[in-house]
Amino acid sequence: MKLLKEKIVQHGKVLSENVLKVDTFLNHQIDPVLMQAIGEEFASRYKDAGITKIVTIESSGIAPSMFAGLTLGVSVVFARKRKSLTLSDNLYTAQVHSFTKNETNDISVSKDFIGSEDVVLIIDDFLANGQAVLGLLDIVEQANATTAGVGIVIEKGFQTGGELIRARGIRVDSLANIKSLANGKVEFFEEDST
Ligand code: G4P
Ligand code: NA
Ligand code: NA
Repeated sequence: MKLLKEKIVQHGKVLSENVLKVDTFLNHQIDPVLMQAIGEEFASRYKDAGITKIVTIESSGIAPSMFAGLTLGVSVVFARKRKSLTLSDNLYTAQVHSFTKNETNDISVSKDFIGSEDVVLIIDDFLANGQAVLGLLDIVEQANATTAGVGIVIEKGFQTGGELIRARGIRVDSLANIKSLANGKVEFFEEDST
């Protein structure tokens, strides 16, 4: 997605060979015009997939998911990282391991909001090692729902997450796929023409 890649080049900060900071439009301050374009792009790619629900994870997955949900006319459910005050035992729970923090945390979604009739589009901001997406896939599976695919705003294609998910036969659409962050420079895989 051209607009997104331009934004990354213009505003992204390469913090290391592995980490790209995009706080000015995605992870802290949010650019609603860009988020709308991203949501519409996901919606257009999945318009014939029969999506009934978008499933994401707090917090940075929510903004792009909202615009995709708005365009597709479906609700957005976000997995919680912390147990909510109104916690019940009516939850699907999955473990998500963070390689960078070297810790494993539970994520959860109420059983009220995903069911066996649902066709789910999973959306997240980053795809790195894929652990968050694997956790969301686990939850969708527990609900006996169907996963139509995974929409990612920024994939770091030099890390293993994309391979891990696609090897399961799951469709992954990333709107920007980064080949390298070496030498303080963002380099994209160029197969994506949108
Ligand atoms: P890992 O799979 O590589 O171990 O990822 P990890 O769990 O450590 O990721 C921690 C957070 O960092 C996640 O967001 C993830 O989306 C994000 N992330 C991973 N790589 C990058 C990167 O290169 N740049 C940026 N900006 N973020 C990255 P989170 O903690 O769940 O935060 P949020 O969704 O509330 O923003
Ligand atoms: Na994030
Ligand atoms: Na995230």
